[in-house]
Amino acid sequence: MLSATDGPALLPVYATFPLRAVAGHGSWLVDEEGHEWLDAYGGHAVASSGHAHPDVVAAIAEQAARLIFYSTAVPHAGREQLAATLARLAPDPLGKVFFCNSGAEANENQLGLARRKTGRQGVVSMLGGWHGRSVATLACTDGAKYEAGARRAGMPLSRKVPFNDIAALTAAVDDTIAAVLIEPVQGFSGARSATVEFLQAARAICDRTGAKLLFDEVQCGVGRLGTFTAAESFGVIPDSIAMAKGLAAGLPIGAVLCLPSLVDDITVGDLGSTFGGGPVPCAAALANIGVIEREGLLANVRQVSAQIAGAATTLPHVVRVHGRGFLLGLELDCPAADVQRALWQYRILTGTSTDPMTLRLLPPLSFARDEADLLLRGLQAVLT
Ligand SMILES: Cc1ncc(COP(=O)(O)O)c(C=O)c1O
Repeated sequence: MLSATDGPALLPVYATFPLRAVAGHGSWLVDEEGHEWLDAYGGHAVASSGHAHPDVVAAIAEQAARLIFYSTAVPHAGREQLAATLARLAPDPLGKVFFCNSGAEANENQLGLARRKTGRQGVVSMLGGWHGRSVATLACTDGAKYEAGARRAGMPLSRKVPFNDIAALTAAVDDTIAAVLIEPVQGFSGARSATVEFLQAARAICDRTGAKLLFDEVQCGVGRLGTFTAAESFGVIPDSIAMAKGLAAGLPIGAVLCLPSLVDDITVGDLGSTFGGGPVPCAAALANIGVIEREGLLANVRQVSAQIAGAATTLPHVVRVHGRGFLLGLELDCPAADVQRALWQYRILTGTSTDPMTLRLLPPLSFARDEADLLLRGLQAVLT
């Protein structure tokens, strides 16, 4: 049971879970043998309203039957509605939206907007930050392998400062810096959270120096922290936010949500994307956000997160619980990969992180109390 690999024609670049999935519903994934797996990994924070929510499925089918795609040469109601919805749900005055197709693209575009507006090149990003695999985002991502990729492409690296170190940030941001790029909760690092004070200081430093404050909410946004944006969870308003993963519950979409002042001189041809904001992903995203609102999933995240975090602190081998909402990191006194593998015996999926001792939990926003109980019972069994 405990093996599954990609077919030989695929590049072997992904570490794979030990199942081949054929279906999904809610917090559950179904394998080829018909076994159900509890998904506390959420398809890597993507299955926000759960797998195959009927409203999302219907919206995709309806839109696909009417019009799968036309380019941005034609205005489309779905794209306009989604932009207006994001503007409504984000803290004021974040209200201008550009659509693309992925998290890396969303970050790439917000970095480009900051460089364009300031006329500066430099970026300050955080140790432990992860921002994507395009050249500009690799340059801001922490880790020798990623930085080497940016260097090979001739892209200047960002200045990296320790996360939550206000003095280091103050020293790093000067008048050459276009942007300070921060994940409010660092996902790959094991759900390491910014402090409110650090984000407030980052806002003040950017205001003082003219740099733009950019939040990468690709993993921690779209409701994952129990508020629609991470910015709201921390009470700090950046110049722009990159969103992706959970936005359309599985169809590829990215969005940059900006302050009007960042984009007040943007005109035709300044940005672009063939597929960005296509009718089907926009329909999926609108339906997904509709589910998040109607089914009270933000409140669910807050309640069930407290249940999981509270119980997890009492489990053997759990040293500390990191993160917020449904982006939690269980810091262990044993290797997280061993715990992840042991949970496969119970058909429970979780994530690891760049910290070998931290197990990452990022379930669908619809993850229910009884599903949290199953997860906690599984953890209790493998950690005892
Ligand atoms: C915080 C963060 N930023 C950016 C990305 C890149 O997103 P994508 O893989 O959609 O390009 C990821 C992906 O995991 C992420 O977690």
